[in-house]
Amino acid sequence: MDEKALMQAAMDAREHAHCKYSGFAVGAALLTADGQIYTGCNVENGSYSLGCCAERTAIFKAVSDGKREFSAIAICGAPKGEPAEKPCIPCGACLQVIAEFCGNEFQILLTDGMHTLKEFLPVRFEL
Ligand code: THU
Repeated sequence: MDEKALMQAAMDAREHAHCKYSGFAVGAALLTADGQIYTGCNVENGSYSLGCCAERTAIFKAVSDGKREFSAIAICGAPKGEPAEKPCIPCGACLQVIAEFCGNEFQILLTDGMHTLKEFLPVRFEL
């Protein structure tokens, strides 16, 4: 896996963030098992609770395109206009959505390096 290229794709997607309410821009790049990259950004709404995180945008794009197997996701976030240097840890809702499709060893690439899903979500809700 080209980690640098995956993070760059997340950085590029972050440029599209619609974050006029929080001012916090997030980008994500999801790598499918067959080597494709689906990107996402956070998309906020004037009716605040309707906004969607960057990670879920990327996952929903991929799933709606028929993809179900994923190897990694790169995530970056920071206040809009500032460089995304500090690691942006995915929120609990996004971790649960990732867990719907990915196992414990799924790779989560942040700006401080590679992590696993189980590191951030040691247990998961299962129906
Ligand atoms: N956000 C994400 O896109 N991903 C996360 O994992 C956490 C937060 C977004 C949601 C909202 O648009 C902004 O960051 C501030 O919370």
